[in-house]
Amino acid sequence: MKGEEAMKKYIFIILTALLFLGVAFVPLSTASAEEVKNKDRKQTLNIAHRGASGYAPENTIAAFDKAFEMKADMFEVDVQMSKDGELVLIHDTTVDRTTDGSGQVGDFTYEELQELDAGSWFSEEFSGEEIPTLGEVLDKYRGKIGILIELKSPELYPELEEKVAEELRERNLDKPKNNKIIVQSFNHDSVKEMHELLPSIPLGVLLGNTKVTDEQLTEFASYAEYFNPNKSMITKEFVDRLHSFGLKTQPYTVRDKESADFLMKAGVDGIITDFPDYVDPR
Ligand code: G3P
Ligand code: CA
Repeated sequence: MKGEEAMKKYIFIILTALLFLGVAFVPLSTASAEEVKNKDRKQTLNIAHRGASGYAPENTIAAFDKAFEMKADMFEVDVQMSKDGELVLIHDTTVDRTTDGSGQVGDFTYEELQELDAGSWFSEEFSGEEIPTLGEVLDKYRGKIGILIELKSPELYPELEEKVAEELRERNLDKPKNNKIIVQSFNHDSVKEMHELLPSIPLGVLLGNTKVTDEQLTEFASYAEYFNPNKSMITKEFVDRLHSFGLKTQPYTVRDKESADFLMKAGVDGIITDFPDYVDPR
């Protein structure tokens, strides 16, 4: 009998504790979801990666139009160079994955690149999409949506930095207001060169999932405004550390809503995503 009473008491304590935990923690988690929705979401720059590349073939006008339509703040592009020196937007250093052609980007003339279909690999609906040039994209979207320009594998293309600088200069985009144009690269020498060519342009240093020392951050902050790492590097502490060096951060590449929410709670300044609606369904 004594044992039965003790068991009842034990069950009562467990049930009371569970009830308390439910009451105490459910509102807390709701509050934290609200926080992302109402405050952080609006403050985070929403950057469509290679255009809204979750919905249309990357680095094409269709993907950039989609980013604009979805009210992203910016879209990101990858700049490389054709054999005859035209600045073209394509991610890989070969055309194999995203077109119906095959070979190195730099082995094609601009005219040859234009003949390639850059849409069908994604979906038949996009067949006939062409590889755009940086110039045509600057002309079409300037003033409408921000453009984050990545210098892709600049070590392969002599004077890529000078050519990009010239495209911006001739459109008076070398002193952009409100960070509407940002130039970034994994090649930090190339970012430094851009800083020398266009001292007013906001620049970003890209990095994979690699630890950085305080000395490196001091060096980056001497020529760049942004430190944009792989999203797996982000914690709230790391964001605070970057901010303490005067660096803003826009990690890449978000392809799920949970990551977007996590990054916003960590206090990032922008998110580079294939799905702009995961950052903010505007
Ligand atoms: O904008 C950052 C991101 O684009 C870097 O990675 O390989 O997609 O160019 P990747
Ligand atoms: Ca890129």
